[in-house]
Amino acid sequence: MGDSGISIDSKKVPHIRLSSGEEVPCMGMGTFGSDKYSPDEVSAAVAGAIRYGYRFFDCASVYGNENLIGKVFEEAFISGIVKREELFITSKLWNDMHGKGDVLLSLAKTLRDLRLESIDLYFIHWPFPNYHAPGVGRDARDPNSVPFSTERFMATWAQMERIADMGLARYIGMSNMTIPKLEAVLPLCRIKPAFIEMEQHPSFQQPELFEYCRGRGIVVIGYCPLGSPNRPERDKTPGDVADMDLPEVRAIARARGIHPARVCLKWAVQRGSIPIPFSVHEKNYQANLSCIMQDPLSEKEMEEMKKAERNCRLVKGQVFLWAGASGWEDLWDPV
Ligand SMILES: NC(=O)c1ccc[n+]([C@@H]2O[C@H](COP(=O)([O-])OP(=O)(O)OC[C@H]3O[C@@H](n4cnc5c(N)ncnc54)[C@H](OP(=O)(O)O)[C@@H]3O)[C@@H](O)[C@H]2O)c1
Repeated sequence: MGDSGISIDSKKVPHIRLSSGEEVPCMGMGTFGSDKYSPDEVSAAVAGAIRYGYRFFDCASVYGNENLIGKVFEEAFISGIVKREELFITSKLWNDMHGKGDVLLSLAKTLRDLRLESIDLYFIHWPFPNYHAPGVGRDARDPNSVPFSTERFMATWAQMERIADMGLARYIGMSNMTIPKLEAVLPLCRIKPAFIEMEQHPSFQQPELFEYCRGRGIVVIGYCPLGSPNRPERDKTPGDVADMDLPEVRAIARARGIHPARVCLKWAVQRGSIPIPFSVHEKNYQANLSCIMQDPLSEKEMEEMKKAERNCRLVKGQVFLWAGASGWEDLWDPV
């Protein structure tokens, strides 16, 4: 039961079937505190979310809270609230760990922090080895930054494949990719990514990349599903759209008498992605999961949501740029 004394039956949460035949919940919880919420606050929310019925958690070493979240997982297993095999837990390789031998080292640290013997899904967080320290401002740059290289990426992916061979990661995935990068690397993969994590919200639907992944049996995990209203300052740009204020979203919310957040999440799930909304507030994270279990959007509303597209990328990634790059667009292979 949640702290409020309410819980849902996690088995009744809709699931997505992977090409392996396994089923995973169609929604997870994000754990990036956005440089605003402390590791204590985030891990307390994870504890409450497990009690409420969440079974999918999106973690990363760079979020700086895996050690506390690991304590929460361990306590949940010991107290019998949930079994290890009932949770689907992801983590991600940070950009400064793309060197030879680094993937195993990084995953070992994550497993120790999360107090797990294996991870369900391990991502390459960004397809560049470019480092930025947590909490930096928008103008911070790593002088050693380099553009994407297929050869370099595949050397890191080969290490990912080995940790999958070893059974330390049940699935491996890529994050922040583009179609040109996927076209370059997918034919070279011995083990194909089972998941791609990408930015996905009503004003940034990435329809081509989304369909590209689905057409290849790759499940899409959508980050910033609510438009990340509390994202770090470095990820805010004048002209950014607030998804929960979009007229298309608000009109559906108003007609149904529900919060715009619910419209964004219903849409994401019905579209076939796995959104991973974040909140430390019990009222919000509970509503986020329960809303996808009832009153789906109609076909007409789903069509209306297509009009919310504004090509508004929020996480532009400019801190990963290399000397000589013309702007953040260079990270995303504009055509
Ligand atoms: N792979 C990557 O490179 C990458 C990049 C970014 C994010 N991510 C992952 O994606 C997750 C989600 O992204 P995000 O946290 O940036 O954005 P988000 O989930 O779109 O937005 C989170 C914010 O929305 C608010 N919110 C949540 N539920 C709400 C509700 N029901 N009503 C109103 N407001 C609500 C929360 O505010 P309150 O705290 O006030 O509730 C929270 O700060 C992250 O936590 C992380 O795990 C991955």
